[in-house]
Amino acid sequence: MRVLLIGSGGREHALAAALNRDPQLEELHVAPGNPGIAEIALCHAIDTDDNKAVIELATSLHIDLIVVGPEKPLVNGLADAARAAGIPCFGPSKAAAQLEGSKDFAKQVMRDAGVPTARSFTCTTQVEIEKALDAFGAPYVVKHDGLAAGKGVVVTDNRDFAIEHALQSSQVVIEEFLDGPEVSLFGISDGHNIVAMQPAQDFKRAYDGDLGANTGGMGAYSPLPWAPDEIIEETLTQVLNPTIKEMEARGTPFVGLLYAGLAITHKGTKVIEFNARFGDPETEVLLPRLKTPLAQLLLKAATGKLKGESLEWSEDSAVTVVLASEGYPANPIVGEPVMGIAPIADSHVFHAGTTIRDGILHSSGGRVLAVTGMGSDLTEARDKAYRVISAITLRGSHYRSDIALNASVAEKGN
Ligand code: AMP
Ligand code: GLY
Repeated sequence: MRVLLIGSGGREHALAAALNRDPQLEELHVAPGNPGIAEIALCHAIDTDDNKAVIELATSLHIDLIVVGPEKPLVNGLADAARAAGIPCFGPSKAAAQLEGSKDFAKQVMRDAGVPTARSFTCTTQVEIEKALDAFGAPYVVKHDGLAAGKGVVVTDNRDFAIEHALQSSQVVIEEFLDGPEVSLFGISDGHNIVAMQPAQDFKRAYDGDLGANTGGMGAYSPLPWAPDEIIEETLTQVLNPTIKEMEARGTPFVGLLYAGLAITHKGTKVIEFNARFGDPETEVLLPRLKTPLAQLLLKAATGKLKGESLEWSEDSAVTVVLASEGYPANPIVGEPVMGIAPIADSHVFHAGTTIRDGILHSSGGRVLAVTGMGSDLTEARDKAYRVISAITLRGSHYRSDIALNASVAEKGN
């Protein structure tokens, strides 16, 4: 099988590594890729926002499957272009990607499908905004309707700030605050059937103790020793399946990865958000644990053949810690040399924001590397991840020291 993977982050590096392990994979091409991916696949420097260029590349390479990493090309209709060209694609159509592209659309689908989520109002005027904020009270949750690269959501006790944030977008969703731990649970869908992956948890805040600004994700771990046993089954029956059925009934089947961001509240599990693609950095903990051959699995999803499929997982735990540039997330300083990458057994260093300049690896993004450690429990997995990341030098960089810490302590107590 010849696969073309789209994207350039740590998620795509983890996808590339897992695709490469599939015995049926013959060639792995990635556009645009990054220096880490270039060590294990053939990279093509094309503009992946240009659907025509991607399809031309796929056709010239006789690609059997396109796998789309990031949300932007999906919302931009890349999967539609691939299917129109007769190339199987793992990734939803432009219409189905609206589950991530529009918070209001996601809410409508959840309402029609009976999926548990926070109560919400969609508002376009200041009067509506203030009414909605006062209906729920603090803490206020305000979400810009469109794709906002992680900057669209504000959770605050400050009513004036909530209004100010709301007024920055022509349409916002204002919803009730959900308390309780968050879990990311991914489903792989062929449009009719959906298979759940194992749950993971990511760490969104920049600093230890969940302090600092929201980021794209500073670390993750899986499995979750504290999560209720029935979480996968419950999410399948209450969230993933009804959503897939609703999308199918609307004539816009969802083919690809449905990311359910869940809150485990005292009133049950509720959806915080949907994404239409693999999460980052959750993918960097999940895929090293997945034993099912990934290229075959994603091809089955892309061609409507997932019925009866189940996934096989390693018993190992995985912990990913992200190395971020100085100033990330507000004002990342990039272009610094990165040295000391020396993976040990059962560890992976995934490149997220790197480039090669004058033959030397340099940082090129806010999140630079995602380091995954594997072990028989979370303590061992953490130890490996931290051993590898602490040996890496990047001036001014920072990483959290508490990824999976509480969970590993709780696991020991069991
Ligand atoms: P989103 O982009 O929807 O994932 O939101 C980003 C983050 O904001 C989530 O991971 C949560 O931590 C937080 N958040 C979003 N919606 C809510 C909510 N209704 N209640 C509490 N926190 C929320
Ligand atoms: N880990 C959060 C996301 O991928 O959106």
